[in-house]
Amino acid sequence: MKLVVISGTVFGTSEEVAYHAVELLLKAGIEVEYKQQWQLDELVAADPQALLFISSTTGMGEMPPALQLLTVQLEDRLPSWAGRPAGIIALGDSSYGETFCAAGEQLHELCGLLGLVELQEMLRLDASETVTQAQDSEPWVERFAAELTAWESV
Ligand SMILES: Cc1cc2nc3c(=O)[nH]c(=O)nc-3n(C[C@H](O)[C@H](O)[C@H](O)COP(=O)(O)O)c2cc1C
Repeated sequence: MKLVVISGTVFGTSEEVAYHAVELLLKAGIEVEYKQQWQLDELVAADPQALLFISSTTGMGEMPPALQLLTVQLEDRLPSWAGRPAGIIALGDSSYGETFCAAGEQLHELCGLLGLVELQEMLRLDASETVTQAQDSEPWVERFAAELTAWESV
């Protein structure tokens, strides 16, 4: 089963988390394809069997640039990915109040639209509480890897 990892970052932390997740997922024996910037056509052509979104929130609760166009295009195109497993890691800062991890919430809605099945609740990494997001994401990523492996063997 090929897992496609999609990230969106402003300052690079989400990419660090993504690279670390890719390392852990590969170690767990999962086939992974990661790009810092996916174009819609190459994403559809990659035919992901599972998806992992990793994104920070910027502006007033907005998606980072790498995801702004892609997510709108995915909403328009709605590729036939229904029933495929997915996960979301959202980076944010709770000092932003109501827009805390808003990009993650939008990705959660997108997963719903696409019919993707989130294997576990979104991980929220709060920059007010941690500066070691990649390390902090490990238990969530390891659980995600285990869920994916179990999914594959059903
Ligand atoms: C200009 C700016 C706006 C931000 N807006 C939000 C926001 O609305 N909600 C939120 O949860 N975090 C917000 N953040 C915090 C970032 O999402 C957080 O610091 C994250 O860890 C950055 O990850 P990155 O390095 O991958 O971009 C904002 C940060 C900056 C600098």
